[in-house]
Amino acid sequence: MLENQRHLFDIPADVRYLNCAYMSPLLKSSVQAGHAAVDAKARPWTISQADFFSYSKTARDLFAGLINARVEDIAIVSSVSYGTATAALNVPLGAGEKVLVLAEEFPSNLYSWRVKAKACGAEIKVVERPVDTNWTAAVMAALEDQRVSVVVIPQTHWIDGGQLDLERIAAVRKIHDFALVIDLTQSLGVVGVDVQRIQPDFLICATYKWLLGPYALGFVYVNPRHHAGYPLEHGWVNRPGAENFSRLIDYVDEINLDATRFDMGERSNFQLMPIAIAGLEQIHRWGQLQIERSLRHYTQMLRHELEAIGFSACDEAWRSPHYLGVQHSEGLPEDILQRLANEKIYLSKRGDSLRISPHLYNNEADAQSLLGALKDCLRR
Ligand SMILES: Cc1ncc(COP(=O)(O)O)c(C=O)c1O
Repeated sequence: MLENQRHLFDIPADVRYLNCAYMSPLLKSSVQAGHAAVDAKARPWTISQADFFSYSKTARDLFAGLINARVEDIAIVSSVSYGTATAALNVPLGAGEKVLVLAEEFPSNLYSWRVKAKACGAEIKVVERPVDTNWTAAVMAALEDQRVSVVVIPQTHWIDGGQLDLERIAAVRKIHDFALVIDLTQSLGVVGVDVQRIQPDFLICATYKWLLGPYALGFVYVNPRHHAGYPLEHGWVNRPGAENFSRLIDYVDEINLDATRFDMGERSNFQLMPIAIAGLEQIHRWGQLQIERSLRHYTQMLRHELEAIGFSACDEAWRSPHYLGVQHSEGLPEDILQRLANEKIYLSKRGDSLRISPHLYNNEADAQSLLGALKDCLRR
């Protein structure tokens, strides 16, 4: 397990920030990289043509390393909704077929599929929240419906913190084939994934949560079987000859035959990319397994104390290691978040769940303050 890493962040001692699922704080090293990046834009003569390609290559490499992918399988996007729209544009869907999604899924994983289903005469099939909190079993049962041809799932449910076993679900394709689109925004950076074993069609991840990155930047793993697919945009940087700035007017109809084909416009993003790189580098230094172990230990300790005051969470066997979406048997006061914020304790509420999502900067004092404040909230 890792020691507490609060010294790498700029978090005042009296702030109890247990809300990484909302947005991570930046590392000091990322802030430094970001300042240098903004300074460079004030002096554009310091930004070289090679920089249009080098930062994005480094970021792709680092992201690929977290999921056991090749650099040429990684596209750079602005958001999960951009990645989802790309997937929906490229995954086939026929009339009468179904797109499987989880109940209370994050909207960016739903809307593109609703539009596509409507256009194709297909349906959305919703997997209801399982009473026993086992999302994997619920998805496996729903897959007995042979009309499901696209499965859109996260690894961690953003509301309750339930974890899905992606390898088990992917293995169902040996008997019932479907396209698999995965959102790792609430898990990657903590829970490792191996795309060679899962073979998703598209796998999408925003950087501003567990990748400790900036807002408005994300990555998409694109399975090689889609490398000749349709990009959302038609820009200049992902075509043969892009490195030769003086000859961009020699127009070419070809687009790169790898995942860079799906890059968003202005993907070189000199301001945000260095911030993302610093976050990814730190995650590699710590190691996802060590992050996972440390956060599991912290959330298990919290869970134990929370149960003693009437809260419940997903069964430990299928809970994400870094995430507690808890409910209280007597319900929660409407103004609970405000009351906690008055004590400088920051969490989210999503649906009926109070969402506690710590990272390596959270210490014992954060946990004790949270538990004390929750007890007070329940008393009043
Ligand atoms: C599971 C999940 N996916 C995606 C996002 C963000 O989506 P987008 O990048 O489209 O804003 C969030 C934000 O909370 C999320 O929880």
